[in-house]
Order: sequence, then C-alpha cells, then structure tokens
Amino acid sequence: MTAYQKTSGKVIVAVDGHAASGKGTMARSLAEALNLAYLDTGSLYRAVGVAVLRAGGDPARDADAVRAAESLDLTKFSRDDLRSEAAGGAASTVAAIPGVRAALLEFQRRFAYQPPQNKAGAVLDGRDIGTVICPDADVKIFVTASLEARVERRIKELRAGGQAVIDARVRDDMIARDARDSGRSVAPMVAAADAWVLDTTTLDAGQVLAQAKAFIARKLSR
Ligand code: CDP
Repeated sequence: MTAYQKTSGKVIVAVDGHAASGKGTMARSLAEALNLAYLDTGSLYRAVGVAVLRAGGDPARDADAVRAAESLDLTKFSRDDLRSEAAGGAASTVAAIPGVRAALLEFQRRFAYQPPQNKAGAVLDGRDIGTVICPDADVKIFVTASLEARVERRIKELRAGGQAVIDARVRDDMIARDARDSGRSVAPMVAAADAWVLDTTTLDAGQVLAQAKAFIARKLSR
C-alpha cells in the first residue's frame, strides 16, 4: 500500500457517523461551500454489496464479497439502485469483511490526499474516515442523531425516491445496521478521540451546515 502524506495547504475533512444522521447531506454541502472534492465512501460499500447480490452471491461470504470489491471499477460504477435499504444492508454486511475494506482503502486515501481537479482539499464521509482512512485529517466531525429521528429521515428519503416502505421494517433494519457497524472487529464505527460530535436530532440541514462551517473556521484558524 502506498503511504500518503498531507500536502501542505490542502485540507482534509473527515465526516463519520450513524446511518441517516445527516452526515451525507452535511458533507456534500460542506464540500460545495468550501470548494473541496467530495467522496461518499458509503457508495463504494453499497456498490460492492449490490454487485454481490446481482451476481447471485452472498454478501456475508468472504470470497464473493472480496471478488466483487476487487473487480469493481471504483471510478465509474453506477450509483443507480444504491440507495435502497437492501443495498444498505448488503453494504454493511460486506463492510465487515477485512478483504473488502482492504480493497477499497487505497482509492479512498488517494482521493483524500491527492484530491481530483487539484482542489484545495477533500471532504470524505463514512464510518472510519477519521480513525482509519485519514487519521491525520485536519477536521474530524462525528454526526449522530436519535434513533427515532434517523428512522423518520430514512423513511422520508426512501418514500421520496419512490420506494414502498414499511415503517417498522426500516426501524429494525436501522437497529441491525447500527449494531453491525459498531460491533464489527475491523474498523468499527466509532468517533475518533479528536472528533467533534454533532447531534443533529433537533437541527435541520441548514443549521447543521452552519454549525459545521463555524466549527471548521474555528479549527482551521488555530
Ligand atoms: O447513508 P447511510 O448512512 O445509511 O449509509 P452509507 O454511508 O451509504 O453506508 C452504507 C454502509 O456501508 C454502512 O452501514 C457501513 O456498514 C458501510 N460503510 C463502512 O463500513 N465504511 C465507510 N467508510 C462507509 C460505509
């Protein structure tokens, strides 16, 4: 694996947190506001999970998942169909397999340390950005919200995307996914010791963005 070093003057913002906590919306709008490159690392795991399902494989089987991760073209996989709960569940299953995480590591690091289009830096969102992918990130934010708020948001998101939704099922899936993501032995979801924890339970997207921008401005001016 190539070792990457931060280029001086470039900024890395690591955003981690719970499913449907608002971290994706926040990270994307932060990147836009600060003119930084943006990578949704969850979509990489979702693409692997969906590729395994499409090939008729089992996301929990190491060989199926690692083969899919190693053969995926990370620069141009389709983002279609990745937002379903089935894709999220398959993603969190393959994400617990060390060979899958290893196959996706280099791409994420290169993106962070050598951002495309020579941008001044990058925002990455996921579960292990501040702990494993970029432990030396300039800014680390861990986004969370109550289970009820996250379930409500996910139901809205799925309905807006035209998907049929059973509320109790979304709640059960969310609880199962939280447990899998926090409980796995490799790169578990956990706030880095030096992360700022932002609870978005009572905040809308605009308030979340405003708080994150203020935090980054304070952090980078030190
Ligand atoms: O959008 P949501 O928060 O529901 O999920 P996501 O960010 O698209 O991630 C889907 C799944 O991929 C998560 O439940 C994790 O298991 C896995 N993942 C991971 O393990 N590490 C990352 N850096 C990003 C996602």
